[in-house]
Amino acid sequence: MGLLVTGAASMVAVEFISLLAGRRPAEVVATVGRSAEATYTADLSHPESVDTLTAHLPRFDRLLLCHGLLQDTPLAQQSGAQMTQSMTVNLLSTVRLIEHALQANPHMRIAVLGSESGFKGSYDDTYALAKAALHAYVGWRRTGPDQQLVCIAPSMIADTGMTTRRRDQDRVTLRGIQHPKGRLLQSAEVAGLLYHTLYEDQGYLTNAVIPLHGGKFSSNPTHS
Ligand SMILES: NC(=O)c1ccc[n+]([C@@H]2O[C@H](COP(=O)([O-])OP(=O)(O)OC[C@H]3O[C@@H](n4cnc5c(N)ncnc54)[C@H](OP(=O)(O)O)[C@@H]3O)[C@@H](O)[C@H]2O)c1
Repeated sequence: MGLLVTGAASMVAVEFISLLAGRRPAEVVATVGRSAEATYTADLSHPESVDTLTAHLPRFDRLLLCHGLLQDTPLAQQSGAQMTQSMTVNLLSTVRLIEHALQANPHMRIAVLGSESGFKGSYDDTYALAKAALHAYVGWRRTGPDQQLVCIAPSMIADTGMTTRRRDQDRVTLRGIQHPKGRLLQSAEVAGLLYHTLYEDQGYLTNAVIPLHGGKFSSNPTHS
């Protein structure tokens, strides 16, 4: 048995795989993606490509889903193709893969990346809507007694692609300064929580969406 990872180029996945190699060097890790380096090639813009993975899924007992797609324009300016691609990558292919994985192995443990945008929205409304629906699905999808389905919903992660590719880096910097922690979240912190979820928790943590925002919505004590 081993771990299957999507979005392996994401810094969250990179940090997770590095953490895992240090703590469980014998664990088998395989990746799913569009690039030639992936163990299994699949373009999640096409939901059918998920079906090509079904034969491989029984070999794995853990699935980590780090893929995602954020457009740099609001929904009203996106083409129909962009909106469809976003909903497919962020939601429909994700859920399809989870469904296949839960059917493949009664001991499957799954962690998927949601987003704070799924609670509060985003300039890319399509992305936020897809993440909100993903959060809802994680909450309602019944899992077996030895299965686990958890979603981690982080706020902005400083060192991952969706943040580092942004053109408004001055706003990103300001968000860190204004945050109660005085900084933004790091991908290594997300990886640490994912590791606890997938490898340390006993499994009662399931059908849960865990916000990871560092207290940014807490009220100012001087105004309470
Ligand atoms: N960054 C943040 O601030 C933030 C905040 C909250 C949640 N998240 C979530 O965290 C996860 C990782 O975000 P990130 O910032 O690390 O993103 P990223 O650097 O853009 O990485 C996204 C990953 O998704 C893969 N991917 C995209 N479209 C795909 C497709 N059609 N088929 C297969 N793989 C595809 C990419 O593969 P390629 O290498 O082939 O492009 C890449 O490995 C996402 O689920 C995101 O929604 C991020």
